[in-house]
Formats: sequence, structure tokens, C-alpha cells
Amino acid sequence: MTSTGSASGQRPAPFSDCTTPEFWDDDHISGQMLRFHLDPVAEPASRAHAFIDRSVDWLIPNLGLGAGSRLVDLGCGPGLYANRLAARGVQVLGIDVSRRSLAFAREVARDRSLPAAFRQGNYLTCDLGADQDAAILIYEDYCALSPGQRALLLSRVHAALRPGGLLAFDVTAAPRFDQYREEVVREPDLMGGFWAEPPYVGTHETWTYPDLRLVLDRYLIETVTGTRCFWNWMQCLWPEEVAAEVAAAGFGEPEFFGDVAGAAFDRSAPTFTVLVGRPRMA
Ligand SMILES: C[S@@+](CC[C@H](N)C(=O)[O-])C[C@H]1O[C@@H](n2cnc3c(N)ncnc32)[C@H](O)[C@@H]1O
Repeated sequence: MTSTGSASGQRPAPFSDCTTPEFWDDDHISGQMLRFHLDPVAEPASRAHAFIDRSVDWLIPNLGLGAGSRLVDLGCGPGLYANRLAARGVQVLGIDVSRRSLAFAREVARDRSLPAAFRQGNYLTCDLGADQDAAILIYEDYCALSPGQRALLLSRVHAALRPGGLLAFDVTAAPRFDQYREEVVREPDLMGGFWAEPPYVGTHETWTYPDLRLVLDRYLIETVTGTRCFWNWMQCLWPEEVAAEVAAAGFGEPEFFGDVAGAAFDRSAPTFTVLVGRPRMA
């Protein structure tokens, strides 16, 4: 039976826990997510494949890529962008925490003899390579990070790029915050078996922090063998806030677009894309 109510109890402190790697590399959840990634029209894990085709067509000229260019794809998943870019001659390093997604990405690259390599790890800590011509971080993953993690990631990407190298990433925009309300939903096999092998009981709490435009979706999953908790944060940002963050990491003036396929920027839209470069001179 489903029960729904308001979020109650102790409000978690902003960014007080982080389970992103555990979520994406969980044996059961990663299988569910891979199914979504590979569904050409489902959008819970990746954008629709027709959009990704357009996105790659836009990324190649806008990141100045050509045969032999070097690009690091942060959070590459099953390589939907990485292998399309590699098929155009770009030498891609894909980094992801999900072993299951990487196994798929590697198999595609091997079968098609693509110049793509894949590394399992957390992009906040693992080697991002050096002298990269470009980097991408796609599907609003920037906004799942705390301000400290965003600063760390930007400085690591800055160090991995060659002078003049470019970074493209998309962002959950401030107007999206208005779509969220605090509530709690508790039900058997929450989201139809997404979280664990049934039977289990799942509780989904949504907490909002209006002063930070921050949303926490916290999931408590109770199975016969134990209880697990997953924390998904999302901070909705204005372009000016992102501009200040990239400037603090040493990047130049950003350009803003409506999406990763080059649509026009729209301040009222729920997402936008940032294109920014490491200056040629320090
Ligand atoms: C929403 S999916 C997007 C995948 C891909 N960029 C796309 O758009 O098809 C986010 C991906 O980032 C990975 N990821 C999340 N946090 C990560 C981290 N800290 N280090 C490495 N990979 C991470 C997840 O495993 C997942 O594959």
C-alpha cells in the first residue's frame, strides 16, 4: 500500500552525505540504469539517442575537435557520446564509476575498433589524463555535486586540459527549482523493483532548501537482508553563479547555450549548457 505525506523529522544538512558512486555502481541499480541508457527514447539516464546524435554534431566543431584530438568524457556511462565521438576520429578517454556501463562501452569500442579507452573511477579523485583538447560532463551531473566538489572537479579539469582546451557541460537551471515540493512516499517495491530485487519497502523523501535552490531526494530501501540509503542532491543554478565558479577555477569567460546541441540560451528554461576554455596564457 502506498502512503504519501509531507517530509518530517530532522532536515538533513545540505550535502551532509554523498552516495553517488554507490548508487551508480550498485549491481542491481546499474542494470536498471543501463537499460534506460540503451533505450533510444527513455531519458532517466541519458538523453534520447536522436538528441545525442545532434549533440555530437554540435560538440565536434564547437570543441574544435578533429581526427586525433583528445577528449575526456566525465561520467561517460555506456559511452553513448564517447563512442560516437571516437567514430569521428576523436581519441576519447571515458571515465565512470559504473563497471556495468563501462563493460558495455568497452565492448562497443572493441567491436568497432574505435580509438576510445575507458577508466573506472570517481572523477573527483582519479587520473583525468593530461594535455586534453576538450572535456565534457553531460546530463546535468554538475548540479549533483556540492559547491566544494564542483570547485574540485573544475580545478582538476582545468589541470587536465591543455592551454586553450575547452570544457562543455550542462546545468540544472534555477527555474527548475520551482517544480519541487517536499513530500514522502512509502510503498512496497518503490518504483517497480528499481532499487533492489523485490520484495522491499522503499521510502522516497523530497527535501527542498529554497535559499540554496537545492533539492534532496533521499531513498531508504528496506530489504530482507538490510537497509540502504541513497542521497541524490540537485542544486539549481543561474548562469552568473556558474560563471563565478568557472572563473574561480581559472577558466575564461563562458558562453551559454540552451542545450548541448547548441540551442539558443533561454533564461527561463530548466537547463542550459556552458562552454568555457582554459586560457592560452596563464
Ligand atoms: C546521468 S548519467 C549520464 C551519462 C552520460 N554522460 C550520458 O549523458 O549518456 C551520469 C553518469 O555519471 C557517472 N558518475 C556519476 N558520478 C560520478 C563520479 N563522481 N565519478 C565518475 N562517474 C560518475 C554515473 O555512473 C553515470 O554513468
